[in-house]
Amino acid sequence: MKRKISASILATLLVGVAACSPKAEVPKSESPFKPSASLQELMVSVIDPNVDPIWNAVSTISTKEGTEEKQPQSDDEWKVLRNHAITLIEVSNLLVIEGRPVAATGVNTSTHAVELSPQEVQKTIDGNRGDFIKHAHALQEGAKLMLAAIDAKNPEELARVGGIVDHACEQCHSQFWYPNDKRPTASLDLGLQSGNSLYLKIRSAS
Ligand code: HEC
Repeated sequence: MKRKISASILATLLVGVAACSPKAEVPKSESPFKPSASLQELMVSVIDPNVDPIWNAVSTISTKEGTEEKQPQSDDEWKVLRNHAITLIEVSNLLVIEGRPVAATGVNTSTHAVELSPQEVQKTIDGNRGDFIKHAHALQEGAKLMLAAIDAKNPEELARVGGIVDHACEQCHSQFWYPNDKRPTASLDLGLQSGNSLYLKIRSAS
């Protein structure tokens, strides 16, 4: 009996000690991420070089001689597209890491009157972070559809979801980069179903 009691006292003491001991947890405010590249650098060096090959992999070119369908010709070509799609899916996570600067010091994001400066872009993101995250997720969803079309080796579907990704780019840009641009996107002007409206827009603007 005596032994039993002392055992239970010991147990109580141990629980007490465990409750008091400091927890070896990372403080909530300290993020494990260390963003280094700017948002602009992610656009130029990660997003662009990975989405372009996918957009350009499938196309229909109509000439006097007839219609020419372009699509990947080998398993290797599909595999290259797969690598691009995986990168695109994950870069959307990089976009939402907090503390990433919009642009490197002294670099501008406005080459056209309707485009905001890095400070203005930052202010708009800070004031509407929920929307910014939503647009990044839309990009990821579109990129996942691209991956599914690539794995199914389905060029028609890849062309269709290419338009969805383009729309995701455009939605974020029209809120955070050129919110005052009232012109319709060039892709709509040209009646294109899919394709890179961003570039058409930039080119038509310059
Ligand atoms: C979650 C928001 C978001 C999404 C999604 C997004 N972008 Fe951007 N992008 C921005 C912002 C903000 C800027 C303006 C700052 C800057 O110039 O980088 C920008 C700028 C750019 C620029 C110009 C970079 C420069 O030279 O200043 C390019 C090119 C670009 N984006 C490509 C794309 C493409 C292609 C996609 C879709 C596949 C895309 N972006 C999706 C937010 C986004």
